[in-house]
Order: sequence, then structure tokens, then C-alpha cells
Amino acid sequence: MKFFVDTAEVDQIAELNDLGMVDGVTTNPSLILNSGRDILEVTKEIAEMVSGPVSAEVVALEADEMIAEGRKLAQIAGNIAVKVPLTWAGLKACKVLSDEGNMVNVTLCFSANQALLAAKAGATFISPFIGRLDDINLDGMELISDIRQVYDNYGYETQILAASIRTVNHAYQSAMIGADVMTAPPAVIKKMADHPLTDAGLDQFMKDWAKTGQKIV
Ligand code: E4P
Repeated sequence: MKFFVDTAEVDQIAELNDLGMVDGVTTNPSLILNSGRDILEVTKEIAEMVSGPVSAEVVALEADEMIAEGRKLAQIAGNIAVKVPLTWAGLKACKVLSDEGNMVNVTLCFSANQALLAAKAGATFISPFIGRLDDINLDGMELISDIRQVYDNYGYETQILAASIRTVNHAYQSAMIGADVMTAPPAVIKKMADHPLTDAGLDQFMKDWAKTGQKIV
């Protein structure tokens, strides 16, 4: 499973990248706002650091303007994936931008039907938002599972990018279902290392080791 980091915080991306945990990065207008950085500058910096796809989102609502923004974002670096919303205009922009050879990430997907349309429009990635469905008492994981089945039924190559991951359980279940990629905040990726039995086992080993009076170096 590929890991994308869902942030525009360069320092946090760098830390995970040094560990080999970063196969790509996703940003969105809210994450750019939180970073306090200029979108073109920060996206360039991230794209130079990370070799995999870096998603940068258009902010226009009409197809022609999305296409113009997408072309400009794609010029930042060769590894930019242009992110467009799952609207009819976004699907039009997806088709044009992907036909031009750009990676396209279709975002804000909340149904298997939407995911089917994105695949037909040539999306490289489809981003179903798990956490936001859970927020309104629906089942985000069921959506990942449905899209997996629909894509496998027909052999679509669009990659399922499980997004809006808020918990380690979201990450685990996405991997079990077979999402191609997950994008998660750095804190969630780090939390995946935690287990109380690891902590308890280590604690016991440290106590016993101290009793031996030995040193390794
Ligand atoms: C995905 O590309 C989005 O940036 C992100 O996963 C949204 O997550 P949120 O619903 O926690 O804001």
C-alpha cells in the first residue's frame, strides 16, 4: 500500500520522507491555509523533496478555469497530480488534463457512482473521503469497499486513494480492503507504530536488562 501524507507542512513531510514512509503528498486549500504558505512556492518545495505524486488542488468552479489552473499547477514539477473536485465541471477538467498527460486526482468523492464517472474520465486517483462520511453517521469504509468492487469488476486502473483518514483503524481497514493508496495526516501515520503490548514488553526487557549489569556498547 502506498502512503501519501496529507499535509502542506514541509518539516513534517521531511521527517517521514527520511524514513521512507512517503510515496506522495496530498494538499488541499484548507491545508494550504493552515501552512500559511504561498501555494506555488510550497508545492514546488514539496515536489522537489518527494519523488512520488504531489496533489495540488484547483480552486475554480468552471471547467475552463479549472483546466487553466491545472495546467499552471502541473508546470510546477513533473510529479504534480492536479486535484479537481468531483463535479461535472471537475470531470470535464479531469478528461482534458489527463488526455494532456497529467496525473489527475479527483477529490471529494462520496459515492461509488461518482468514482465510476471519475475512472471513465481518466482519473489517475479517486479520493473517497472516509472521515467526512463517518462524521455524518455514514460508513466511510463501506464506500472504499464498494469502489474496490466496482473498479475490480471492470478492470479500471484508477487508483483508490483512501482520504480523510482520521484514525489508525481507518488506515488498517483501508489496507485490508485493498485501497491502492491512503493519505493520512503525519500524526496518524506515526500512531500506527503504537501498541500497548510493545510498550509493556519493552518496559519488562529494560528492567531485566538493567539487572544483568551488562552493556552492548
Ligand atoms: C484528501 O486529499 C484531503 O486532503 C483530506 O484527506 C481531507 O481530510 P479531512 O476530511 O480530515 O479534512
